[in-house]
Amino acid sequence: EAAHAVRDSLLRWYDKNKRDLPWRRRTHNDDVDDDDRAYAVWVSEVMLQQTRVATVVDYYHRWMERWPTLLSLSQASLEEVNEMWAGLGYYRRARYLFEGAKSIIEGGEFPRTVSDLRKVRGIGDYTAGAIASIAFNKVVPVVDGNVIRVIARLKAISANPKESTTLKKFWSLAGELVDPSRPGDFNQALMELGAVLCTPTSPGCSSCPVSDQCHALSLSRDKNGDCEVTD
Ligand code: ADE
Repeated sequence: EAAHAVRDSLLRWYDKNKRDLPWRRRTHNDDVDDDDRAYAVWVSEVMLQQTRVATVVDYYHRWMERWPTLLSLSQASLEEVNEMWAGLGYYRRARYLFEGAKSIIEGGEFPRTVSDLRKVRGIGDYTAGAIASIAFNKVVPVVDGNVIRVIARLKAISANPKESTTLKKFWSLAGELVDPSRPGDFNQALMELGAVLCTPTSPGCSSCPVSDQCHALSLSRDKNGDCEVTD
């Protein structure tokens, strides 16, 4: 089955090539409390929504040094939080992190499912899927711009992600594809592939782990003997 081949090749590639990012250290550290692991994923994913990885790494380190746990963030002040966020933009996201931390601490435990995570103000489909899969191993997809591009190419479907029906379709395709045994790593591998190899204008098809499964690549070969996907 096609999904199997994609999962296995992509995960093998990810295990070998994944970037050494600070929040990934925490997700695979058994000494870290579950809720604080989720907290780290939450902070990093919210920062990554608007900012390049290289910039996020510095902010992430500073943030985690100041507030290493969900509890510590819940005891901060909005002024401190905004000050720490300065330069990242969209201050509403920082406020949602802070207010979300307070409400989760009040509730007693970090929500573990997508539907419970979605009840926290500021946590949307993307962040809920990222936290549930990466921190809690739930078999749920995530869809961002990178995932849309990768799946669109794999399946050779044209995508206008601004249309809500298209977006729904990609959530459902991503849900069929996600690896049931390593959902968090699989989701990150899809995003990683889109970020470093399956890029918008000059994808590195010749070193792509799933080039054999890529319909857009085989179509472009049929058409003009080319060996790279084009948009
Ligand atoms: N982009 C946003 N979140 C990411 C993650 N966890 N891994 C790779 N790329 C990402």
